[in-house]
Amino acid sequence: MRDSNREWILAERPEGEPDTDSFELREGERPEPRHGELLVRVRYLSVDPYMRGRMRDAESYAEPWSVGDPMQGAVVGEVVESKSDAYDAGDHVTGNGAWADYSVLDASEVAPVDPSVADLPAYLGVLGMPGRTAYFGLLDVGDPSPGETVVVSGAAGAVGSVVGQIAKLNGCRVVGFAGSDEKVSWLTDDLGFDAAINYKQVDDYRAALDDAAPDGVDVYFDNVGGPITDAVFTKLNLDARVAVCGQIAHYNDESVPTGPRKLPQLIAPRAKVQGLLIGDYATRFEQASERLGSWVASGDLEHRETVVDGLENAPDAFLGLFSGDNIGKQVVGVSEP
Ligand SMILES: NC(=O)c1ccc[n+]([C@@H]2O[C@H](COP(=O)([O-])OP(=O)(O)OC[C@H]3O[C@@H](n4cnc5c(N)ncnc54)[C@H](OP(=O)(O)O)[C@@H]3O)[C@@H](O)[C@H]2O)c1
Repeated sequence: MRDSNREWILAERPEGEPDTDSFELREGERPEPRHGELLVRVRYLSVDPYMRGRMRDAESYAEPWSVGDPMQGAVVGEVVESKSDAYDAGDHVTGNGAWADYSVLDASEVAPVDPSVADLPAYLGVLGMPGRTAYFGLLDVGDPSPGETVVVSGAAGAVGSVVGQIAKLNGCRVVGFAGSDEKVSWLTDDLGFDAAINYKQVDDYRAALDDAAPDGVDVYFDNVGGPITDAVFTKLNLDARVAVCGQIAHYNDESVPTGPRKLPQLIAPRAKVQGLLIGDYATRFEQASERLGSWVASGDLEHRETVVDGLENAPDAFLGLFSGDNIGKQVVGVSEP
């Protein structure tokens, strides 16, 4: 008999804010790779806000999970058994796998990782999907020019922290919204943001922006939505660009929120608002990875991961995204080498 394997499955669809009842840890046999597949010992797995959408039985850009399906996402780990010529046992790879001790990955859909270039968790954050989202979302959609003011919400998270730093590398004034004093200090003291606003301590976001972005906002990179976005819309400059990357403030809503409509505020500035999906940039991933990798190697781009240890704690790590427990990229440490 093969070794055992633990795997998280979706136990029930949450309504509103999810809790641990939505997840069940099942124990079974270690899976066996077929031709062209790799058996990977998962070292770290990624928990991401978009997974909330997959837990809902509704059309979304990411296919919904069925109750009983394994929870899945980006993982990084070590090949322990290879049925592909492309990889050998002992190689490290990243790809889409199960929240599990062991995961079977299609060799044609993984990317090699080099643990001597960056720590493994970085391949789930700055050198993974969140870093690439920041790169294309800011540079392609936001299209910032030196001297412009860039505001980013969810600024101390995986995507936001990279957005702000790339904007600084492009000569912009950068302002972040984040949910704690510790996050605000990290942004301004370590990452070089010009200003950061702890939105949990401030009542009037517009007044805070009057101080932090005195020349108005040219690019808004929105990870969050809700009242922060309402306030930023009132500060947009002529020809402003808004990159709508995420709306985490609404992911647990059961109905579409209504309220004061903000679209008139886009008229005078002739602002452009564009949604973005990272999958659309797949043909250019290599370009982003090279650039992000060289900034990390030169020390121009800092990264941080919050590690929750233990596969058994994966649901808590996921739920923590909605209460802002993470600084930088949230990952789960599954196994030690
Ligand atoms: N479009 C795409 O292709 C794409 C790709 C990747 C990610 N995304 C989106 O980008 C956003 C950021 O993703 P990420 O992986 O970098 O996550 P993250 O920012 O690392 O984690 C989520 C953060 O959101 C903040 N947050 C949670 N609830 C909030 C609320 N009600 N109001 C304001 N802030 C709230 C929390 O920080 P605070 O302490 O600051 O509250 C939390 O740390 C998400 O909306 C995600 O869905 C989109």
